[in-house]
Amino acid sequence: MRNDISTILLDEQTIQAKVIELGKRISEDYKDCVPVLICILRGGVVFLSDLMKKISIPVEIDFMSLSSYGSGTESSGVVKIRKDIDANISGRDIIIVEDIVDSGLTLKYIKDYFQRHNPKSVKICTLLDKPKAHKTDIKIDYCGFEVGNEFVVGYGLDYAEKYRNLPFIGILKEEIYTN
Ligand code: IMP
Ligand code: MG
Repeated sequence: MRNDISTILLDEQTIQAKVIELGKRISEDYKDCVPVLICILRGGVVFLSDLMKKISIPVEIDFMSLSSYGSGTESSGVVKIRKDIDANISGRDIIIVEDIVDSGLTLKYIKDYFQRHNPKSVKICTLLDKPKAHKTDIKIDYCGFEVGNEFVVGYGLDYAEKYRNLPFIGILKEEIYTN
């Protein structure tokens, strides 16, 4: 698995330090309420499980699964809900926890979808952002790291469902997805 990676962009230590920082910010910003962290499956799951342990106030968690990517490396722009949340989010403070924002189309769709359920607030927390790839105006409230347009894997992020269990984030060798 390690041999398929050309460069390590973010090692374990760097990611953990950022997760602690984001956890602190969220704990301060939401100190008077109990936010619902909504993890976008499957890529957001490693980030969520680390992040929630670094939040010192009570939180609830829920999960949503969408399809937009298939097994390629480019967003189709078409988003479909595979698994909806279970929580009633009316009047609640929502934090969407995502692995990466690329075109932003997925998050725009989810945010609009949640807004229709009358939450008190909806914010976005993503570990990675590819600002040059945005195809829509999207406000990211908590962002771990900005990256370039390379396809990255590890720490929850996959290519064709592989590499999610790498503890770091790296750039996949181009030959892996062009073959
Ligand atoms: P968007 O709708 O284009 O913003 O796509 C967001 C989703 O695409 C993310 O939640 C990821 O699942 C996936 N994605 C985008 N870029 C990458 C990448 O570099 N590596 C792995 N998955 C990615
Ligand atoms: Mg995702």
